[in-house]
Amino acid sequence: MIKIRPALTNDAKKIAYIKNTTWKDTYKNLIDSFYLDNLEISQEIINKWKNRILDTKSNQTYFWVALKSNQVVGFLWGGGARDPKIEKLKYELYAFYVLPKYQHQGIGKKLFSTFANNIKKDFFLWMLKDNMSELIYEKLKCQKTNYENLIDIGNKQYKEIAFIYKHKNINQLDPNCAFCDPSVIEKQGIYKNGSVVVT
Ligand SMILES: CC(C)(COP(=O)(O)OP(=O)(O)OC[C@H]1O[C@@H](n2cnc3c(N)ncnc32)[C@H](O)[C@@H]1OP(=O)(O)O)[C@@H](O)C(=O)NCCC(=O)NCCS
Repeated sequence: MIKIRPALTNDAKKIAYIKNTTWKDTYKNLIDSFYLDNLEISQEIINKWKNRILDTKSNQTYFWVALKSNQVVGFLWGGGARDPKIEKLKYELYAFYVLPKYQHQGIGKKLFSTFANNIKKDFFLWMLKDNMSELIYEKLKCQKTNYENLIDIGNKQYKEIAFIYKHKNINQLDPNCAFCDPSVIEKQGIYKNGSVVVT
């Protein structure tokens, strides 16, 4: 069973671990290996994730974790559009990772559907150019655009490319998406203790 629930500050260390582990695996042929080898989980980094989780209370941001066998194995963080914005879209998916061992089991799709169903609007995301995960976004009904951006990672610059998700495609995304909508779930009595249980 996969469970999606809002992130708690206690999840911050695991979230930092998931981000680092997924970067080392996904970006090994894209990002400088010295940078990847030296990714660490410092108290400063844990505090940064804690603050992002706490921010969901005051800002229009969303932070969910996915659990399998009660272990946090993935997360999604998103909210109001940051610069550089795309086509005046008001929302952005900031970060979205599932531990390599748990990928390809539908966990990402559940997290993604939960975000889409809570925002109920079109949104964009930036992804490193030539990332093989580009294919996954096509599966998640996102359209690749020609918008590019340069980001600094370590001492180097990398190209990112923007993808756009159109909410009109929600029904093609996940046949169980109603289970990711808190209002539907609450009505059906299966939204318990702030958690969404999706199987
Ligand atoms: C992107 C990511 C979060 C998706 O999570 P996931 O749990 O693997 O996704 P799912 O298993 O729900 O798969 C979603 C769709 O992508 C497809 N897919 C999954 N892994 C794939 C792969 N390696 N190659 C091609 N397609 C893939 C699935 O087939 C599925 O579509 P379908 O059910 O219609 O067939 C995860 O793969 C990941 O962490 N990737 C590396 C990090 C990254 O690039 N993050 C985005 C930057 S913000």
